[in-house]
Amino acid sequence: AGLDAAGGQPAAVPAAPPKAAEPLTILFASESGNSEKLAGDLAKLARKNGFKPKVVDFFDLDVASLAKEKHVVAIAATWGEGEPPARATRAYGELMGEGAPRLDGIDFAVLSLGDTSYAEFCAIGKALDARFEALGAKRAYERADLDLDFDKPAAEWIKNTLKALTPPPSADNVVAVDFAARAVEDDEEAEPSREPKVVEVVDHVNLNSSRSDKETIHLALEFEDGAPAYEPGDSLEIYPENDPALVDEILAATGLSGDAALRQALLSERDITTLSATTVERFAKATGHAEAQKLIDSGEAKAWIEGRHLIDLIQSFPATVTADHLTTITRPLPPRAYSIASSRKEVGDEVHLVIAAVRYETHGRARAGVASTHVADRVKNGAKLRVKLKPNRHFRLPQDPSTDIIMVGPGTGVAPFRAFVQERRAVEAPGRSWLFFGDRHFTHDFLYQLEWQEALEDGSLTKIDVAFSRDQPEKVYVQDRIAQHARELVEWLDGGASFYVCGDANRMAKDVRNAVVRAYATVKSLTDADAEAAVAALERAHRYQQDVY
Ligand code: 2AM
Repeated sequence: AGLDAAGGQPAAVPAAPPKAAEPLTILFASESGNSEKLAGDLAKLARKNGFKPKVVDFFDLDVASLAKEKHVVAIAATWGEGEPPARATRAYGELMGEGAPRLDGIDFAVLSLGDTSYAEFCAIGKALDARFEALGAKRAYERADLDLDFDKPAAEWIKNTLKALTPPPSADNVVAVDFAARAVEDDEEAEPSREPKVVEVVDHVNLNSSRSDKETIHLALEFEDGAPAYEPGDSLEIYPENDPALVDEILAATGLSGDAALRQALLSERDITTLSATTVERFAKATGHAEAQKLIDSGEAKAWIEGRHLIDLIQSFPATVTADHLTTITRPLPPRAYSIASSRKEVGDEVHLVIAAVRYETHGRARAGVASTHVADRVKNGAKLRVKLKPNRHFRLPQDPSTDIIMVGPGTGVAPFRAFVQERRAVEAPGRSWLFFGDRHFTHDFLYQLEWQEALEDGSLTKIDVAFSRDQPEKVYVQDRIAQHARELVEWLDGGASFYVCGDANRMAKDVRNAVVRAYATVKSLTDADAEAAVAALERAHRYQQDVY
């Protein structure tokens, strides 16, 4: 699905010339689906305002044909440490590379999504914005770099960008313009799945043994009025609450302990852990603290915030902090998405999740992941949680149940594969399934061990290979198992198998991909380039899919 030319308008009929719809090409580079959703919002509003929008996933983008476009809006997420979404890597590389076409005569705008808790905030959107300009395109509207609370500013940006792209009315170009933000909001109301739902915790089990240094919670949630229509591969967002002890510490440090409304807001509405340069800047401005301001002016803020949280800022730079300050310097508490670990065909109105408690220490202070420790420490059977379904149509079982599947999911990355195996059991799929699982220790950390054994017995799982990294002196990872079974793996893939990876994006998913490239190279005696092309072809055919975080 490349881009085709903007033309294609019907030839004018002399009596009543048709209104010329402005072509608009909307590109999105999405990892978790947010950019994709905004691209859809933009297309809807554009259509209502006389444009003829065409939405193109970077995954499918034919970069050379971009030169033929007239208006291009790119909505791009930045992932991990300043990287493009995995599915956008190829086209992004081509666009940034030497072979990119000139884009003279094109009007463009870039919306970039990111997360201020990562170092390279919105790096990809910034790079694209500069690149379009360098290639000769004309910026129609200023880029916006948005944090996780992007809903409102994104709707505003979309509206303004469309306005900027709308050609001035002329005799043969009269379009009714209705830029009310309402147009986007209306559609939101039409989609009830966008509203969080309250669910009850009906099962809460630590899957690790008590002697493990990890704590991974199996959580079963029950929807009162029926589970939403989720598919294996989808995620569920949890709206967490902050640690009350941390809230109290912040209140004590600011002398605001008596403020009950503030306490509630800090518990459930504000992000009171993430510290970004923006937070420091807002803090310095709000309190007028000279030392904090110096941190910003000297450019040292970026290094200082590393491993630090809001409490460190407040304690390191004592100042008069009001309740208003606290709400304006923090961002809204974002929900956290977890891959669903169940199939409705097996668990009915429940949704199962697998959540590893995140705990670590930095600068002499114990730190805790917000949602994961909320679930691990403060949610028990019978408790209520607010959740929202987050579909992921790029991580799906093959349409044909007789297609073989290979699943690589170390740690909590195993979650969607439990859903896959449940689903394939329920539909009695004839296709074979092969799971690679890894964790630290066989005796403490083999998540769902008994279920995999049952699945092997009933045939819903054909093979399992495990890598316990800390049971021997040298590390053994899932990619090492892939290398050991290279021949069989390539046989499965040649036979049409689909390959899935879920889990750590920073290292694991890349190492696994390399291992598959190596497998092709060794088994088929291919050059590195040809082996790489073989894996790229799998990706293009949607037979190599990732759900990574
Ligand atoms: P480690 O913590 O012993 O290094 C689930 O977290 C499992 O993934 C653990 O066994 C962990 O090993 C392992 N792991 C860590 N880094 C990895 C990588 N780059 N590739 C694959 N597995 C990795």
